[in-house]
Amino acid sequence: MDLFTAIDTRTSAITLQEPAPSREHISRIIEAGAHAPDHGKLAPWRFVVIEGATRVTLGQALVTALLAKEPNATIDQQARERDKVLRAPCIIAVAARVHKMNKVPEIEQILAVGAAVQNMFLAAHALGYGVMWKTGTGAYDAHVKEALSLHVDDHIVAFLYLGKVGIPGTMRPAVLENRVQWLAQTS
Ligand SMILES: Cc1cc2nc3c(=O)[nH]c(=O)nc-3n(C[C@H](O)[C@H](O)[C@H](O)COP(=O)(O)O)c2cc1C
Repeated sequence: MDLFTAIDTRTSAITLQEPAPSREHISRIIEAGAHAPDHGKLAPWRFVVIEGATRVTLGQALVTALLAKEPNATIDQQARERDKVLRAPCIIAVAARVHKMNKVPEIEQILAVGAAVQNMFLAAHALGYGVMWKTGTGAYDAHVKEALSLHVDDHIVAFLYLGKVGIPGTMRPAVLENRVQWLAQTS
């Protein structure tokens, strides 16, 4: 798939199913992420691949995060949170580990990781996989980070859900109205 076709046809899958991408493809997708623009060449990204049964660890951490925030969460709410990990056979958590004392501002380091996620999204799409980019409150929770062996001050930028497309997403037109200015030369 050529680049513009990948960009123009990218959508988030509504549902995903087995099989997970092959290990080779997961590595290729991560490598695409690490080709993102990176001010200061800091490689601030961290990738945690969560496949198959290891999703249970993340599911449990999501429930712990929910209960820390909402101690009265019902069994149903807990089950819904736990089952989020079943949305795809493979999840890659992508986090930014910011170099604090660096002259490159924190926001630019986090943006580099956002760019990495978009590279990964397009790479996975070009390889024929369905993708969802999710965060949710769990992304900001210390229990979840700990369960993924991340640092508490890492920023989880994405849970990238990967699998075979079940129900495909709908393509949206690019919204440009009142969003573009051309500063044209007058003389
Ligand atoms: C940083 C970031 C976090 C997101 N987190 C969520 C999320 O937690 N839940 C969700 O439904 N969509 C989330 N989205 C949006 C979807 O991934 C998706 O891009 C959006 O619904 C538009 O659909 P499309 O990708 O098919 O164009 C997030 C997007 C970004 C960029």
